[in-house]
Amino acid sequence: MGETDGAIGIRRLEPNEWAVFRGVRLRALRDAPTAFGQTIEQALARTAQDWRDVLRVRAQFAATVSTETVGTVGVTTDAASAHLISMWVDPRARGRGVSDLLIDAAVGWAVERGCAAVRLDVTEGNTAAEKLYRRHGFVPTGRRGPVEPGDPRMEFEMRLLL
Ligand SMILES: CC(C)(COP(=O)(O)OP(=O)(O)OC[C@H]1O[C@@H](n2cnc3c(N)ncnc32)[C@H](O)[C@@H]1OP(=O)(O)O)[C@@H](O)C(=O)NCCC(=O)NCCS
Repeated sequence: MGETDGAIGIRRLEPNEWAVFRGVRLRALRDAPTAFGQTIEQALARTAQDWRDVLRVRAQFAATVSTETVGTVGVTTDAASAHLISMWVDPRARGRGVSDLLIDAAVGWAVERGCAAVRLDVTEGNTAAEKLYRRHGFVPTGRRGPVEPGDPRMEFEMRLLL
C-alpha cells in the first residue's frame, strides 16, 4: 500500500489548513458521490474563505499516514446532540481501523462538549458505513427521509447515547 501502510495519526484541522480539508473532501466526493448529500459541483464552488469558515464552525478531523491524508470526519453540535458528518476513508487505507480512530475522535469531541448523543445519517444500502457505526454502538432511531429534498436516495438516522 506504500505511503498509506504506516502508523495512523489523527488530528483536528485548523482553519489555516483549509486546503488539506478541500483536498480530502474532493477526493471523498469523487470516490463515493452517492454517500454524501453535497455534490462535487457544490464543493468546487466553495471559496478558500468558505472552507476556512467551515473549519471555524465545526471540528473536522484528518487521518494521516506519513504525510498523506487518508481519511476525514466532521462533527458539529446543536443544543443537545452532536452530528457526525462527512466520514470517508481512502479505499487504499480501508479495513485497517482508520474509521474507528476517526469515530473515536469525533465521539470524544462530543463527550468533551457535554453532548447527550451523537447522531448521523446513512444512505440506505451503505452497508460498510452502517456496520461500522453499529460496531461503535450507534442504533437506528426510526427517522428516515430523502438525502436531499427531491432526491430519490433515502437515508436513515442512527444515534449513539453518551
Ligand atoms: C464507511 C467507511 C468510512 C468505512 O471505512 P473502513 O475502513 O472500510 O471501515 P471498516 O474496515 O471498519 O469496515 C466497516 C465494515 O464494513 C464492512 N465492509 C467493508 N467493505 C464492505 C462492502 N463493500 N460491503 C459490505 N460491507 C463492507 C467491513 O467488513 C466492516 O464490517 P465488520 O464491522 O463486520 O467487520 C469507508 O468504507 C468509506 O469511506 N466509504 C465511502 C464513504 C462513506 O460511505 N462514508 C460514510 C457516509 S455515512
